[in-house]
Amino acid sequence: MQKQSAWRFRSSSVGLIKVEPNNDDYSMNNGDFENSSSADLLPFGKSDEKTQLFLKEIFEILLKYISKSFDRKCKILDFHHPHQLLEGIEGFSLNINGEAESLEQILVDCRDTLKYGVKTGHPRFFNQLSSGLDIVSLAADWVTSTANTNMFTFEIAPVFILMEDVIIKRMMKIIGWENIDGIFSPGGSINNLYSVMLARHKIMPDVKHSGLRGFPQLVMFQSKHAHYSNKRPAAILGIGLNNCIDIEVDERGHMKPEDLELKILQSKLDGKVPFYVTATAGTTVRGAFDEIVKISEVCKKYKIWLHVDAAWGGAVMMSQKHRHLVAGIEMSDSVTWNPHKMVGVVLQCSMFLTKHKRLLESCNNMRADYLFQQDKHYDITYDTGDKTIQCGRHVDVFKLWLSWRAKGDKGFCHHVERCIELARYLVRKIKKTPGFQLVFQEPEYSNVCFWYYPPSIRNICDEVIKNEKLGKVAPIIKSRMMERGSIMIGYQPLGSKVNFFRCVISNCAVNYDDIDFMVGEIERLGHDIDM
Ligand SMILES: Cc1ncc(COP(=O)(O)O)c(C=O)c1O
Repeated sequence: MQKQSAWRFRSSSVGLIKVEPNNDDYSMNNGDFENSSSADLLPFGKSDEKTQLFLKEIFEILLKYISKSFDRKCKILDFHHPHQLLEGIEGFSLNINGEAESLEQILVDCRDTLKYGVKTGHPRFFNQLSSGLDIVSLAADWVTSTANTNMFTFEIAPVFILMEDVIIKRMMKIIGWENIDGIFSPGGSINNLYSVMLARHKIMPDVKHSGLRGFPQLVMFQSKHAHYSNKRPAAILGIGLNNCIDIEVDERGHMKPEDLELKILQSKLDGKVPFYVTATAGTTVRGAFDEIVKISEVCKKYKIWLHVDAAWGGAVMMSQKHRHLVAGIEMSDSVTWNPHKMVGVVLQCSMFLTKHKRLLESCNNMRADYLFQQDKHYDITYDTGDKTIQCGRHVDVFKLWLSWRAKGDKGFCHHVERCIELARYLVRKIKKTPGFQLVFQEPEYSNVCFWYYPPSIRNICDEVIKNEKLGKVAPIIKSRMMERGSIMIGYQPLGSKVNFFRCVISNCAVNYDDIDFMVGEIERLGHDIDM
């Protein structure tokens, strides 16, 4: 039987890392979950006792998972290939066969789902810009799910709607604008889309009703190191990717304002209308900050909307020490910031902010009178749903609001500064460890990009051959780290630089020993590579 096999779990060890023991027992006697089904839970069951027992078991599973997430002796992941997961492992089956399973099986399913996933809160998970498991925002997420409401109207989410307003107004002070409007949306990519929509709506409001026909060709610009979500709006909104121009970067990875100006002038000569520039505050791979002041001068000169994609780097606004990296952000027209990245709020938590009040509403409203009735008995400006491109909207604000209440400005400041300090420690470590080499010297943020050269390629004189071999090293080490489950770091090429590791630190559970471990583990996993 499926659940039977799911109870027998491996308790082996790989190297120094324990395979997560999965012999947790449920207090079956209390709940008799084997002979119970969802029909015994609220609202169908006769009492709420079974529901409470069931939820307590779920809570136990979650608590154990949380402990393991922070336990360095536990693996980050127990890797299986897609076909293995699809075929089913040790009784864990992904099939929906149409039968109603017992509550016991449902508990096993919850546990196994976590077991075969990736512990992104683990202190040795450096793979993504969003990492860590922040307990307060996790609690907020549980509260939010229990409230199970929708952000489109004050009518059904009064408290959350006002919290969103409070947070957005607070961001006005932090950015330094005199006016603000904004919205929480499902991620930085959507927020970058909002900014292009608004910029176009500002200069061509009629496109909303008449479509693009008859309007001049628009052109938008971003650095060649910008996140790909800055380009996708060109494809979505009918501007066209060919009218989305890459701007050169300097040796620090900053967009070159003089190249921007040149390309703006060129587009004008071509009879097109330059209307939108993205400056990135914290590029995805390198963590570079475009110089907003210089870019804003160009934008002002040509009357172009300036968007700052601070999805990753926006957190420096919380630190006096690092805020200079976004100097001039107040000169922008709009900003994207993802608290689910650097300040560790659990996914998803992302804001779109603009200093142009009412533009979101004017651009997106559809005035559905079954939802946004104009004759309600309260102030309908709090029915924010018509500002968005969604209808239903998840409550994301509460995770940030509660985190902010719990940690204060100081807590966020400490988080950012500590992550940057750990990154600087890694830089120092790489500089003095044989076989390692920084791709970019002196990173500005917590991204540290580096190569590892196994001994077999260190003495190759032919640079072309050496580079070709080097490009294969990171993928091999990455596959080994995933099989072993000891650590996770991303890799990628960038321009002419062959595959290199990009370590990003955004998890405040990371300490100096974890950084030492990372460097040692890469050596352990890669020293014997011989191509
Ligand atoms: C600079 C930048 N902008 C935007 C995004 C997209 O954010 P999201 O994944 O929340 O859509 C990312 C994601 O890594 C990013 O690094």
